[in-house]
Amino acid sequence: MQERPIDNNYLDFINRLSDSLQSHGLTTAYIRTYGCQLNLSDSEKIKGILQSVGIEPTDNELEADIVVINTCAVRHTAETRVFGHIGRLKDRFTKHKDKLLMIGGCMVQQPHIVKQIAASYPFVGILFSTNNLSALPNLILTRLMTGRMTFDSYPDSYEIDESIPLSREKTYRALIPIMYGCNNYCTYCSVPFVRGPERSRNSRDISREFNLAIEDGFKEIMLLGQNVNSYRNNINDETNNFAELLNELCSNPSDYRVRFMTSHPKDAGIPLFETIGAHHQISRTIHLPLQSGSDNILSAMNRKYTSAKYLERINEARAIIPAVNFTSDIIIGFPGETEADFNATLELVRTVKFYSLFIFIYSKREGTKAALLEDDTPYQVKVRRLMELTEIQNEISLEYDRALIGSEQKAIATNQKDESQTELRLDNNSVITVDGLHRVGDFHIVIPTAIENRRLIGEIKQ
Ligand code: 5AD
Ligand code: SF4
Repeated sequence: MQERPIDNNYLDFINRLSDSLQSHGLTTAYIRTYGCQLNLSDSEKIKGILQSVGIEPTDNELEADIVVINTCAVRHTAETRVFGHIGRLKDRFTKHKDKLLMIGGCMVQQPHIVKQIAASYPFVGILFSTNNLSALPNLILTRLMTGRMTFDSYPDSYEIDESIPLSREKTYRALIPIMYGCNNYCTYCSVPFVRGPERSRNSRDISREFNLAIEDGFKEIMLLGQNVNSYRNNINDETNNFAELLNELCSNPSDYRVRFMTSHPKDAGIPLFETIGAHHQISRTIHLPLQSGSDNILSAMNRKYTSAKYLERINEARAIIPAVNFTSDIIIGFPGETEADFNATLELVRTVKFYSLFIFIYSKREGTKAALLEDDTPYQVKVRRLMELTEIQNEISLEYDRALIGSEQKAIATNQKDESQTELRLDNNSVITVDGLHRVGDFHIVIPTAIENRRLIGEIKQ
């Protein structure tokens, strides 16, 4: 938990809320998170807030008094899954009006979704914004007092509240947001609309959280932001940027690994690559979303780089950081994507040789610029392209994994399974399975020995 300044009014309010929750018989909460790591990080705060008012987390959704759904708006499929989930809760929350269903996150930042929930899902108790989590206790109290569907009607202030309590989900990985929002307005993307404009945390607050997490035994720190390269400690100080922040954080001499996401190819450059090269704690696998290998499509997406510029970035990084690897995101079937555009993507993927790819079928998002364009690639064509690209990438990924066999790799134990095996994560975030039970959160040197069903098997070096 982070420190909260003592404020008697606030303490009074929290006591009132705890009493009210207790008198309504609400003692446990289940939180389901859809979407990205930033959403997971928000859920750690939601859990922290609920714990601070006496609510205990549970993994059992069916027995929970409170169900929280933290939603994602990046693609239509995520929204469909959320609506399916809410629908499955209808009987329970209609019958048990004493229980509380709360829906928050990016989906409910969209007025048409709020309208839809208000009209068709009256058993939902609270709709809240994750840009404004400080308002959550107030919303809960209002709902308990009125029994009505309660909306977060505060305008998003986009102020960063450093006093929100936090309850980390994982024991080995600490998620640390460094900035929120995005100003890039890629034409397909809903994030700038639902997450608001870019704003950064103060580097002192980030350093404090970073050093505390390491002191608490976390071995992997993941720095988060929609566009980490836009990190600015001070809006007027262009020099105190993401590379500087990494330098500052990595002055901590303990044994840990740092990851960050997400970098934008238009901003990630030599200063960042030199900083990564200078600190062995920073992962050598960089996520650098390409989206498309076609210059026409990149321009229509407002990505502000060409395929040649992207390749130049990759080559610069490879010259500066020995053994650097890249992972990426690709969107298939953006409006107007021709076979030639898609082939340009295939070609760039073959040239760069990413360690792994996240491939998404284009999803039209209301309010974005691309939504005005005709979504003109037939679904079967999108699926065929997706399969073709997946097949090529699988071969490349397999080649990388084969090259690891027999080598010594540093890995963090992340999960014990089947009571006899342990899963660990390599620097490139791949999972490797070894025999025996090893404590989650410890570093080991592992030697990959085989690949079974596309997964690495190995042993721990004694
Ligand atoms: N359709 C499909 N994929 C999308 N992404 C973002 N918006 C969309 C969309 N409308 C993908 C991008 C981004 C990743 C997080 O999600 O590839 O990098
Ligand atoms: Fe969306 Fe582009 Fe911002 Fe990433 S950089 S969050 S894809 S608008």
